Amino acid sequence: MRVVTAAEMRAIDKTAIEGYGIPSLILMEHAGLAVARRSWRELVATRSRKAVVFAGRGNNGGDGVVAARHLSNWGARVKVFLAGDPERVSKDMAVQLAMARRLGIEVVPLREDTESRARLNAATADLIIDALLGTGSRGEPRGLVALAIDIINGAGRPVLAVDIPSGLDADTGAAPGPVVQATWTVTLGLPKVGLLLPPGRELAGHLVVADIGLPRALVTDSPVPAAAAPQADEKGTAVGTPVAGNAGQAARDKAGADKPADGGHAEAPALTVWVEPGLVRALLPPRPPTGHKGTFGHVLVVGGARGMSGAPMLAARGAQRVGAGLVTLAGPAGLVPVFASAIMEALTRPLPDMLDGGLAPEAAAEVLQAMTRADVLVIGPGLSRSEAVGQVVRRVLEAAAWPVVADADALYALGEGARLLERTRERRFPLVLTPHPGEMARLCAVTVKDVLANPLAIARDRARAWGAVVVLKGSPTVVAAPDGRAYINSTGSSALGTGGTGDVLAGAVGGLLAQGADALAAAVAGVYVHGLAGDLAAAARGPAGIVAGDVADSLPQALARARDGQGPMLDMEG
Ligand SMILES: NC(=O)c1ccc[n+]([C@@H]2O[C@H](COP(=O)([O-])OP(=O)(O)OC[C@H]3O[C@@H](n4cnc5c(N)ncnc54)[C@H](OP(=O)(O)O)[C@@H]3O)[C@@H](O)[C@H]2O)c1
Repeated sequence: MRVVTAAEMRAIDKTAIEGYGIPSLILMEHAGLAVARRSWRELVATRSRKAVVFAGRGNNGGDGVVAARHLSNWGARVKVFLAGDPERVSKDMAVQLAMARRLGIEVVPLREDTESRARLNAATADLIIDALLGTGSRGEPRGLVALAIDIINGAGRPVLAVDIPSGLDADTGAAPGPVVQATWTVTLGLPKVGLLLPPGRELAGHLVVADIGLPRALVTDSPVPAAAAPQADEKGTAVGTPVAGNAGQAARDKAGADKPADGGHAEAPALTVWVEPGLVRALLPPRPPTGHKGTFGHVLVVGGARGMSGAPMLAARGAQRVGAGLVTLAGPAGLVPVFASAIMEALTRPLPDMLDGGLAPEAAAEVLQAMTRADVLVIGPGLSRSEAVGQVVRRVLEAAAWPVVADADALYALGEGARLLERTRERRFPLVLTPHPGEMARLCAVTVKDVLANPLAIARDRARAWGAVVVLKGSPTVVAAPDGRAYINSTGSSALGTGGTGDVLAGAVGGLLAQGADALAAAVAGVYVHGLAGDLAAAARGPAGIVAGDVADSLPQALARARDGQGPMLDMEG
């Protein structure tokens, strides 16, 4: 589902009103009715059915007054407190206030002398409706609005926020000052970005998306990543193989190795999408029933150093568990016996190593040689941060001609500011980077706080600058493409907060690339399925104490669910 900033929502409203001729009062009526319906569900079970609406003087307040009118008609006891000068309300709000007054609904201007009355009414309400500020909110709440927020939060009663909790930045999810803690938020038309990013996600409570009668064309036209082309025909022969080549070449073609790194897309509008099951189902590469290990691609995982043998093995597990046909695990020669004894199902390849147990610079040539037999490279898990490792990573990335997933220490090797990525922006192979906020901060030469303040914007900006798909891990993980599209993931929880889950994710993305998904599709679907695997593992074993291996082992079940279109959906009203 498309999600929007305040400015994008305003543009959509404007087109609906001016382009399609839908009067703003009709949109407001739909909005207020949706709010009233949700409110009634909560009120109907209470004894006194008392609702108190705190309304601002803009159109968000107007939505609240419409809701008050309907709730009153249905038998609720309703009072409206107006946090603003009654003489300076918006045009549509003025219409709503006039109707409400004629229907006998009490509208009380919030002032010094009415504050204690407002507090008492809020504290005894069965439901408080927050209609103070919506997408017209600018900066920290001031004056009467700030006072009303204090009254709402102090009442300790259930709160339903209209569109966004007042005080929340609709674009970033930040709260620059006082902000309403809602129990539910009924967001209008389309979800606002800030409702899905922390702390907005927690402040919004249970999120409901209400249809307010906007034309379908304005709310649904969100281009999505290209689904993978079918990998094989019914005989199991790779389809689209240019010469009599191998499945590897086919996988590279389908993954976009011969196209520009952004998949050939021109600069697109900065669309943002909340990842839902239907989208993921369309993005997952097909599994032809007659497919074989050659059909499903070959992933080379390069990682490991002394004391860090687990990370590349978890990445290999991730690739295997999403269905890669073959996985080769390559690492410092001294570690290969460990790999071989721990994972029976992977091939192994020793790489030249140094006395410190990490890769030697000559390993770069060996990796390039190994890639003549593989389709996708996953590089970085547990590699360590030595200068020699840095040289290997940089040489490999400069010579790469196949899809690459760069994770963990491979990201460290790119250095502060990651100039190599900007310099090689026009590369002819798809690159997926999977940083956590600390790694992203270093790559961007900013602080972790800067990254966390606006993860979506920074991921989008860097994806453009680097010509790479950026998977910025977090809660939620966001995926950004070089053409401006961005995806907010909907699965996963703090159960994934344990060492090694990132390695599993890098492998899973590599495994989907190997099966023919393009870079953006592999990243979006890989992140979703990995989060769902974490959810399944947590549901089976409890939310704490999950280890990365549990997540890897839940991937097949998560994948099956995703193929069936199962997973978290947004709650819809209307
Ligand atoms: N077409 C429609 O009718 C339609 C369709 C869909 C949704 N909506 C609703 O309309 C809302 C947008 O309405 P709107 O554009 O009128 O904006 P709004 O969200 O209602 O807020 C605008 C009002 O809030 C005040 N304000 C802004 N920032 C403030 C702050 N930090 N502290 C105190 N006051 C502040 C503004 O005063 P100043 O001017 O003094 O800053 C202005 O009076 C949406 O969120 C939605 O609820 C309407």
